Amino acid sequence: MRTTAAALCAAGLLLAACSDPRPDAAALERAEALRPADPALAARYERSCIACHAQAASGAPLTGFAPHWTPRLRAGMDALVDHAEHGYQAMPARGLCQDCTRGDLRALTEFMSQTPSEAS
Ligand code: HEC
Repeated sequence: MRTTAAALCAAGLLLAACSDPRPDAAALERAEALRPADPALAARYERSCIACHAQAASGAPLTGFAPHWTPRLRAGMDALVDHAEHGYQAMPARGLCQDCTRGDLRALTEFMSQTPSEAS
């Protein structure tokens, strides 16, 4: 059922299911366990992004949870990286990672959304 909803969501056919898709326990465990492959990036991720992006209650799109990222990715990776850099609603500018470059923010966003360049 969840897979079906995610597939329909990805196809843009079931927009209501995209507004508040709830991650199950397995998705939450996966979000807590996932790390970027690059150790320097993993350190930045653990220092900042993980505090919100591995927590269902934060309102942040969950790391590795496609139903949270698919609708956002429609805006394009550049728009997402702009929001990560400058802040967006409850998302603080640079995700509170003051020494993250735009390239780091892009790589972290690609990792969290599991887009092909960082997917493992
Ligand atoms: C204090 C909590 C917090 C931290 C720390 C945080 N985020 Fe977020 N992030 C959020 C929230 C909340 C949202 C959802 C904002 C919304 O759509 O209202 C979000 C959304 C995003 C988005 C999607 C923006 C969009 O256009 O939909 C990206 C990309 C992102 N964060 C990247 C990062 C990165 C990279 C880091 C670490 C460097 C990070 N965040 C750290 C809370 C956080």
